[in-house]
Amino acid sequence: MAYPITRLRRLRQNDVLRSMIRETEVSRADLIMPYFVCPGAGVRNPIHSMPGNYQLSIDLLLDEVRDLYAETGVDKILLFGIPETKDEHGRVACSPDAIVPRAIRALKERLPEVLTVADVCNCEYTTHGHCGTVVNGDVDNDLTLETLALQSLTLAQAGADVIAPSDMMDGRVGAIRKILDANGFSNTPIMAYSAKYASGFYGPFREAAESAPKFGNRSTYQMDPANSNEALREVEQDIIEGADIVMVKPALSYLDVINRVKQTFNVPVAAYNVSGEFSMVKAAAANGWIDEQRIIKEILTSIKRAGADVIITYHAKEYVLNNLI
Ligand code: PBG
Repeated sequence: MAYPITRLRRLRQNDVLRSMIRETEVSRADLIMPYFVCPGAGVRNPIHSMPGNYQLSIDLLLDEVRDLYAETGVDKILLFGIPETKDEHGRVACSPDAIVPRAIRALKERLPEVLTVADVCNCEYTTHGHCGTVVNGDVDNDLTLETLALQSLTLAQAGADVIAPSDMMDGRVGAIRKILDANGFSNTPIMAYSAKYASGFYGPFREAAESAPKFGNRSTYQMDPANSNEALREVEQDIIEGADIVMVKPALSYLDVINRVKQTFNVPVAAYNVSGEFSMVKAAAANGWIDEQRIIKEILTSIKRAGADVIITYHAKEYVLNNLI
């Protein structure tokens, strides 16, 4: 059937019709809000490249998450830590007294209804800023699996609801699943950063988490932005090793990858709307160049339309507040 019998504009005449046939709607249940937790008390350090985001000490993090939940109903957060000290391997993160396990215990006590996802990686905890143990100038895959597994166990013991490895070592999902299962955490889900690209869009995050590599870059472990067949192989490996949710990161330059992953495997897919994507919106908005709230809605909708079930985004709170969802 073609024009003039078919007129696609008929169903665009007003908002009632448009909303009736709308295919994609981002809801608050889809969103995870990231936070950066640091030592001390009463600390609220602004992250300059990410307006509205802070390094928060545990006491203020609790207030912030309480407000998020009370004001918006967003009940999922992702935690990153800024530790007191770092070491060569990232072992500081494997102690129950490390910053993130401490924060998780406090959160689960005060706000048990908020799902707490723990990022697992060594880059915030190593002196050199790489995501694992460096041997001869490169990250050693299998040695790194040991710290990742121990860090994951520590986080699960502290009460983390979901473990989210972001390091891109081969075999880490299997190693984490094994140690969790052996210690009574067979019900703790793994959300794996499966297709994580070596991306310039992480720049602001590295200021926030103080995790920039001191030499070289992450291209020997994170993926080449030019590849999407390889992303499917990464995702397949992680599913086989026991990942419950697979992630594509960043989101916007990789919507095609999100779509292929969803179409190919039909498993729960997360997408990370990363720091650089956030900061570009904030910078343009601060200059008065874009309609910020409209752009945020369009961005999140596009990520969901591409196939993501879960969206990790620094816009989570403002999106819910501004859209009354
Ligand atoms: C840790 C990690 C990074 C991000 C999440 N986990 C940074 C990196 O790989 O350098 C980036 C998040 C963001 O940019 O918002 N490996």
